[in-house]
Amino acid sequence: MTDPGVPSPLRLGETAANFTARTTRGVVSLADYRGRWLVFFSHPADFTPVCTSEFIAFARAAEQFEELGCALLGLSVDSLFSHLAWVRLIHDRFGVDIDFPIVEDPTLEIAKAYGMVAPDAVDASAVRATLFLDPEGVLRASTTYPAEVGRSIPEVLRTLQALQRVHGGKVLAPADWQPGANLLREPAGHAQDVLAGDGATDWFYTTIPDIRAR
Ligand code: BEZ
Repeated sequence: MTDPGVPSPLRLGETAANFTARTTRGVVSLADYRGRWLVFFSHPADFTPVCTSEFIAFARAAEQFEELGCALLGLSVDSLFSHLAWVRLIHDRFGVDIDFPIVEDPTLEIAKAYGMVAPDAVDASAVRATLFLDPEGVLRASTTYPAEVGRSIPEVLRTLQALQRVHGGKVLAPADWQPGANLLREPAGHAQDVLAGDGATDWFYTTIPDIRAR
């Protein structure tokens, strides 16, 4: 049952509500990201092995996200000073700079609103949620991994590119789609269009080249 006092988490196709929070890069508002794609992701805790490996991997791919017009924004329940100490450790131990902001969310208020943690969670066990927000702030995809399994950053990049490619409609990205590969045509929704085909190809499954890739 839904608690009327707890906001229901953001769902696909919904516009993310704004928030303003302290981060490792100063105070940030979600509204600051309008006009750009955003990968907004949570992690269970600073100073933990899988999270550290993920942050190193995200930081190493930061230029690729930048080239795709996409910002990165991390979040966990840990305090700003924990985030800062962790960023320093990653710099010193691994020679990697975390240049994107990490939000502190000590009350889990943001994590709960964005479905990064169970609405009734009482501890800091935010899952590895990854939210893909389009330039209008609409949630286009989300994934959830458990604390024990790290995300694949190439898959985050691939999902982002697929979302960008289908944004605006008319084409679909098939299973295992990679940038530049064939797409699928959005099937006709009217019998007249379906019957107009030559019958040689399945009306609902038409592969088309990605003309933007040329
Ligand atoms: C990790 O990132 O390694 C981790 C975080 C929380 C629980 C278990 C593992």
